[in-house]
Amino acid sequence: MKIIATDRKGVEHVIEGTDGWTVMEAMRDAGLPIAAECGGACACATCHVYVDEEWFGKLKPPSPEELDMLDMAVAVESNSRLSCQLRCEPEFDGIRVTIAPE
Ligand code: FES
Repeated sequence: MKIIATDRKGVEHVIEGTDGWTVMEAMRDAGLPIAAECGGACACATCHVYVDEEWFGKLKPPSPEELDMLDMAVAVESNSRLSCQLRCEPEFDGIRVTIAPE
C-alpha cells in the first residue's frame, strides 16, 4: 500500500507500506524523521502523526494505551494518532499522514 507522508518541512513523500507492518515502520524505513524511540511499543509518542480527515474516520479506534500516550504528546489535534499503532492494510492504500512537531 502507498502512504503519503508529509514531513515537518511540508515535503510530501510517497512511500510503500508492507501489509501487516505499521505506518511508523514504513516511514522509518523510508528514512523519514520519525523518532519512534520505543520501537513501536506504544510507550513514547514520538511517532505522533496527524491523519488526514478523509482517512481518520476509517481507522480502527485507538486502544486505551494509545490514548494514554497521546495524552502525553505535544501538539495533539483531533486527528492525532500514533503511527506505530496504524497497521498497513490494503484498505488504507493512499492514506495521508503528516508528521507532528517534535
Ligand atoms: Fe513509541 Fe509509537 S514508536 S509510541
